[in-house]
Amino acid sequence: MSVFSRRLLAVAGKGGVGRTTVAAALALAAGARGRRVCVAELYGAWRIQHLFGARARSYTPIPIAPRVDAMSLDAVDCLDDFGRKKLKIGALVKALLHNRVMGAFLDAVPGLHDLQQLGKIENMLMEPGPGEPRYDLVVLDAPATGHSLTMLAGARAMREMTVVGPFHDLAHRIEALLDDHARTGLVLVTLPEALPVREALELVEALGPDAPLLDAIVVNQVRPASVPAEIAGVPWETVRAALVTDPNPDVQAVLATADQFVLRQHAADRALTRLTNAVRARHAAATTCSLPSVDVDQLTADDVRALARSLVHLGDAT
Ligand SMILES: Nc1ncnc2c1ncn2[C@@H]1O[C@H](COP(=O)(O)OP(=O)(O)OP(=O)(O)O)[C@@H](O)[C@H]1O
Ligand SMILES: [Mg+2]
Repeated sequence: MSVFSRRLLAVAGKGGVGRTTVAAALALAAGARGRRVCVAELYGAWRIQHLFGARARSYTPIPIAPRVDAMSLDAVDCLDDFGRKKLKIGALVKALLHNRVMGAFLDAVPGLHDLQQLGKIENMLMEPGPGEPRYDLVVLDAPATGHSLTMLAGARAMREMTVVGPFHDLAHRIEALLDDHARTGLVLVTLPEALPVREALELVEALGPDAPLLDAIVVNQVRPASVPAEIAGVPWETVRAALVTDPNPDVQAVLATADQFVLRQHAADRALTRLTNAVRARHAAATTCSLPSVDVDQLTADDVRALARSLVHLGDAT
């Protein structure tokens, strides 16, 4: 089963590992596979829209490729939307929302911001209104790891807290979507370095039976080895053994640096092997794939399109 046959893909991982980039690339890959897809950023972030040429943040989905839109959610827009659709008191809700008291209320209820944004996604997927786009798939650029899990678990807490009423129904619908292993999958992004990989491993081990199914691990920003395995056909260890007695201090300095690189690479490789084994043992259907590090200061839309081509066949074999 391909990851692209899901309705919702949550892209999680530690801060800065490339969640937003991978979410955008996954959305483009899904679009290339013929799916109608929207990539959603949360809390007012609009990096993807900006990358694809937008001048201003847009809550309304905007096209970034054939069949692919990007949207920027935030809790106030979503609550406003929810108010109009479910509470049928649009003008009043709007007035309340733009009132500081309501802002403080939103901030004070734990998980309400998350719930509103996930609720909008659930609504877009499951009951789009007349004139609203219909998506096969939403790719969610989820918050950094710790918060992702809280966010995904938040719907249950909210349902239990509210008992009845529109928020209860909303929480219930989100929970049903997130718990449905056929509709919702998780993509975990990490970097090929020991610490981020160890953190990804902790997350894989912490995923309980209620969490969305782990569909894929994306190892992002993979670089060619800093020290080649062989130089002109001679294994690096042989080259090193020949140089280690060289009296030239510059040669010794280069060797010391190379040794550091090799140690770091080995630590990352060992961590990646542990991660791959843990994924295989616990999440048999999940795949692992890697994305190259693009050698630029700032990624462009073209770079993300190129990364997307590496993801088009993600999960085909499973
Ligand atoms: N494969 C890649 N090659 C080169 N640069 C990359 C790659 N992936 C991401 N980047 C760059 O790394 C930085 C972090 O990426 P991104 O913003 O996607 O990460 P994030 O996990 O969403 O971060 P945050 O936690 O801040 O939301 C960005 O500057 C992005 O352009
Ligand atoms: Mg991000």
